[in-house]
Amino acid sequence: MKFFIDTANLSDIEEAQALGVLDGVTTNPSLMAKEGITGETNILAHYKKICNIVEGDVSAEVISTDFEGMVKEGEALAALHPQIVVKLPMIAAGVKACKYFSDKGIRTNVTLVFSVGQALLAAKAGATYVSPFIGRLDDISTDGLNLIAEIRQVYDNYAFDTQILAASVRHTMHVIDCAKIGSDVMTGPLSSITGLLKHPLTDSGLAKFLEDYKKGN
Ligand code: E4P
Repeated sequence: MKFFIDTANLSDIEEAQALGVLDGVTTNPSLMAKEGITGETNILAHYKKICNIVEGDVSAEVISTDFEGMVKEGEALAALHPQIVVKLPMIAAGVKACKYFSDKGIRTNVTLVFSVGQALLAAKAGATYVSPFIGRLDDISTDGLNLIAEIRQVYDNYAFDTQILAASVRHTMHVIDCAKIGSDVMTGPLSSITGLLKHPLTDSGLAKFLEDYKKGN
């Protein structure tokens, strides 16, 4: 299972990278704005900084909503750095652009996916990754994890290569449940990764080991 961090915050990305378990980064326009990164030049420069911190895939989202605009933007993003994956919204133009990029060998991440039908379309269009947003489904009292399980079943039925990237992950239980279901990737905040470290018996056990070591020395 790949671990992506869902942020544009460089220090969080550095911390996850330093832990040695990070496989990539996902961003979106809201996450960029949260870090105060605005304007095309600054956004492109920020993607480069992120690519220089991590070794894996970095999803960079287009903001165009028409096919021609998506192609223009996506080609510029892909040319920016070999680690960039072009992130496209699940709308008709996004599916068309996904097929275009897939035919050209440019990697894609189809985002804002909330149903099995949308995930099926993304796979048919040759998406590298599909991003079902589990947290946002949970927010409206719909089982986000069930969507991951249904997409897993459909993709396995037909051996689609598209990787399921569980997005809008909010906490450690989302990560663990996605792993049980067989999601290929998860993307979440730093806390969803570092939270996996924690167990009170680890802390008390270590404290006792260190105490006993001191007694013997
Ligand atoms: C996916 O790539 C999105 O950036 C993200 O996971 C959205 O998560 P949110 O629902 O916490 O905003």
